[in-house]
Amino acid sequence: MRAFTAPWRLLLFESLERKPPDAILKLIAEHANDPRDNKIDLGVGVYRDAAGNTPVFGAIKTAERRLLETQTSKSYLGSRGAVDFCDAIQALVFGDVADRNDRVMTLQTPGGSGALRVAADLILRADPNTTVWVSDPTWNNHVPLLGGAGLKLESYPYYDVDQNELRFDAMLDVLNQAPSGDIALLHGCCHNPTGMDLSTAQWDAVVEVVVARGLVPFIDFAYQGFAGSLDEDAYGVRAMLDRVPEMIVATSCSKNFGLYRERVGALTFVSANAEAAEIVGSQSLNIVRTLYSLPPDHGGATVTMILNDPDLRNDWLTELTDMRQRMKEMRMLIVAGLGKTAPDRDFSHIERANGMFCYLGVSPQQVARLKQDYGIYLVDSGRINVCGITSDNVDYLAESIAAVI
Ligand code: LMR
Repeated sequence: MRAFTAPWRLLLFESLERKPPDAILKLIAEHANDPRDNKIDLGVGVYRDAAGNTPVFGAIKTAERRLLETQTSKSYLGSRGAVDFCDAIQALVFGDVADRNDRVMTLQTPGGSGALRVAADLILRADPNTTVWVSDPTWNNHVPLLGGAGLKLESYPYYDVDQNELRFDAMLDVLNQAPSGDIALLHGCCHNPTGMDLSTAQWDAVVEVVVARGLVPFIDFAYQGFAGSLDEDAYGVRAMLDRVPEMIVATSCSKNFGLYRERVGALTFVSANAEAAEIVGSQSLNIVRTLYSLPPDHGGATVTMILNDPDLRNDWLTELTDMRQRMKEMRMLIVAGLGKTAPDRDFSHIERANGMFCYLGVSPQQVARLKQDYGIYLVDSGRINVCGITSDNVDYLAESIAAVI
């Protein structure tokens, strides 16, 4: 190797220390590199069908073909992204928003993560001293992403890992003591990692606390349509909208449109009035310009096409409903399997959870054994993605889990 000498006294990159890989993303490569035929991937949150594939939605394929034929330019759209995409997402999230459009400002972002990051920067510009309250536990990347942007974070109790149920009273107690102006980060539906969602009555109670304390709700809405219908899953977001002057919603099309690698998301700010919304818009576009300039378009253009074309929308909804059904069935299947292999343990919480995730209820050591001895991959916290379960592998999975607990 060539030796570099003066004038460099210190090498810039040599001052860096190695960072551990992300706990979720590292599982993708680990699973891919495992040569065992019976390996099972319960790791990263991507949908898988009964054959273990993550197919492109038929509606997306059709939209892509149409786009290929009709798109005449790849020129820049601007930092906000495509306005018709933003309008379509607003309608999806809020339902009929015609009467409040001037308070609501949506921008297209690179995935839900892009939305979270832009939101973090805007919060910091508005009030660098505010605190964001996140659920304990929450998505692995919430704290690194929002904390890394510079936000102050605290947590509120959410889930009791021993009882496998919400710590709802404790959650309300803590939020009830948060200073006015602080931000409550809530999962719109399909709580990641626990899959345990607030009931509509619990959402109503959270709305009351948010209103009474003067908190700002920040809703991470990455799984609309994965727990129930699009409208059912939007209950919390919509219940909040009518009661609060300000709100932030980060939306993702990764899961419900299967557009993971296309990076399609949106960020919505609800402001007290039209003038404030315009200022928020100008600030957020300025943030986008300095972060990534403008969002990617392709995936978003297919989403817009699907949402605005009744036939394509129907096709998409049928596929989405099938996916939701499969996730529920796999939950029932593994609970039945564990009922045979580990009859002394109660795993019924797996069926009560929504979407892709829930905690299995295993220790990090047991997670390591599942990986090493059985080729079964899950996050160290014990979170599983039920989409990795099939009728072919469920018996092996239930036996392996019983062997390590
Ligand atoms: C997950 O939680 O597995 C997904 O949201 C993927 C990710 O980026 O972590």
